[in-house]
Amino acid sequence: MVDYVVYGRGCFDQLDEIIAPHRKNEAPMIFLLDHFFEHNKVMKSRIPLRDNDMLIVADVSHEPKTSYVDDIAEELKTKYGFVSGIIGIGGGSTMDLAKAVSIMMTNPGNAQDYQGWDLVTHPAVYKAGVPTLSGTGAEVSRTTVLTGPTRKLGMNSDFTPFDQIVLDPALTQNAPKNQRFYTGMDCFIHCVESLEGTYINEFSRSYGEKAQQLCEEVFLHKSDWTDESDEQLMMASYAGGMSIAYSQVGVAHAVSYGLGYLLGTKHGIGNCIVFNHLEEFYPTGVATFHKMVEKNNIHIPVGITGGLTDDQFDTMINVSLGMAPLWENALGKDWQSIMTRERLRALYKRL
Ligand SMILES: NC(=O)c1ccc[n+]([C@@H]2O[C@H](COP(=O)([O-])OP(=O)(O)OC[C@H]3O[C@@H](n4cnc5c(N)ncnc54)[C@H](O)[C@@H]3O)[C@@H](O)[C@H]2O)c1
Ligand SMILES: [Fe+2]
Repeated sequence: MVDYVVYGRGCFDQLDEIIAPHRKNEAPMIFLLDHFFEHNKVMKSRIPLRDNDMLIVADVSHEPKTSYVDDIAEELKTKYGFVSGIIGIGGGSTMDLAKAVSIMMTNPGNAQDYQGWDLVTHPAVYKAGVPTLSGTGAEVSRTTVLTGPTRKLGMNSDFTPFDQIVLDPALTQNAPKNQRFYTGMDCFIHCVESLEGTYINEFSRSYGEKAQQLCEEVFLHKSDWTDESDEQLMMASYAGGMSIAYSQVGVAHAVSYGLGYLLGTKHGIGNCIVFNHLEEFYPTGVATFHKMVEKNNIHIPVGITGGLTDDQFDTMINVSLGMAPLWENALGKDWQSIMTRERLRALYKRL
């Protein structure tokens, strides 16, 4: 779990004070800033750069690749040898990048070597996360999702969670409506997949139910988007992440990973594209999702797999079926006989 959490409108301004005790001798703090804020002078002026600290603009035009993690870690090791910490400020992609880079500062080899479960052996350098979009739960999770040469899979480990997170709902307030919806739906889908999964337990249920209620409050029951909506969605993201920390995601994520790997479809929108067609697995959740799409007037793309070759479908199927824990959570121990390659191919074709 994350060791320290600060929450509140404007709390981003406490960052300097929060990280001060973690500065080690001459070693710099490295700030990874989402490229969305690259030209935002106000945001940049609030980043507490001191001495030889470094600001790196994180290019998140694509979701993080293992090679990008290795490049940043290599650059930092060459330039500084050791750093005091990595502070990620941005959406889920920047959160994941910060977590992965901090792991690669202390673990040998390449990021791709750690894609899987419990492969990281050395504690990472100090890492803090400041989310600017709400929904992924990346701020609390024990994974960092990376696309490597052969698969899209997280570094799931006890060393992956942040040491500190700074949850300031004001940082999310200018997110465009579509992006906010797609990332928010990631949270809603986490809840449905966790609550409907076979791994469910009271820990996960307690957080999952709360997160789902908050998502429905902001996307279904409120007439306008307000400051309170940003606050509620930020806490939904946190609780949704806590819910899956002790359970797993399910069908939408397993299928969406295949789309992400082959087509580069982004996580939030990819989950929406898949979830749109999952009535047979999650009837109530999908019905609510359809209402939220309509109420918020969001376009969910269809027909994105039209024209793909058999080989391409096979690639997506392989990536997806490689996510055994997700399928087992969704469908039980017999999942392989339930989700056959043919059934999954038919599902991909419907997207
Ligand atoms: N580690 C985990 O547990 C976990 C869970 C779910 C998803 N993820 C990962 O999170 C990523 C998706 O994250 P996301 O949905 O937050 O999107 P994102 O981080 O990919 O960002 C989407 C876009 O929004 C921009 N952006 C960021 N903050 C903004 C703001 N305040 N206003 C306007 N634009 C802003 C970014 O620059 C980017 O262009 C994927 O890489 C996915 O794999 C990780
Ligand atoms: Fe997700």
